[in-house]
Amino acid sequence: MNNGDHYPFSLKPLPYAYGALEPHIDAQTVMLHHDKHLQTYVENLNKALMDYPQYHNWSLLDLVRHYEELPAEIRTVVRNNAGGVYNHNLYFDTMQTPSGGKPVGRLAQAIKMSFGSYEAFQKKMKDASLEQFGSGWAWLVLSRTGKLEIMSTPNQDTPFAHGACPITLVDVWEHAYYLKYQNRRGEYIDNWFPLIHWEQAEVNYLKCIKGRMEREKR
Ligand SMILES: [Fe+2]
Repeated sequence: MNNGDHYPFSLKPLPYAYGALEPHIDAQTVMLHHDKHLQTYVENLNKALMDYPQYHNWSLLDLVRHYEELPAEIRTVVRNNAGGVYNHNLYFDTMQTPSGGKPVGRLAQAIKMSFGSYEAFQKKMKDASLEQFGSGWAWLVLSRTGKLEIMSTPNQDTPFAHGACPITLVDVWEHAYYLKYQNRRGEYIDNWFPLIHWEQAEVNYLKCIKGRMEREKR
């Protein structure tokens, strides 16, 4: 039985209506982003793996983390498309109807300890988003050394390659904001902050800590 986490992959439903992120992100952008862009990553990932049944039991996370073990002829296409599916699923899942909420729980404490304040976190995250040349992502991660860090990755790369674990992320490909914000990436980032689903980010953070503790035990 396919629980959706291995080949053939399918489009994960959006956890809210297309218009749920308005006015910060418009319904048309969300619709195109999810139903067209993400769908294309799903299709291309399946196409790449079609003739390689030995990888059909690999989970999405296995493919994202260990694409270097794949045959050279599908390595890049899997890197880009498994990354595309993983990153977008996490992006859509860690947003919600604008609430203006702030970090919660242990993540809130860690943000304060690592960056000094929520506002300082926002500034670092925005800087990373603006400094990412061309297409990519900005991330809040738990680093290899167990600290909160902000980083950016090009294209559909993930923090796993740097030994880091994702907590939340923002898509800075133009398709994520161009209809409403055109070239004003900074304005889009400002409008993304109130959409962060902090309860989900906290769940992601605790999962990162657990994964790290389990790896250390081995
Ligand atoms: Fe995207």
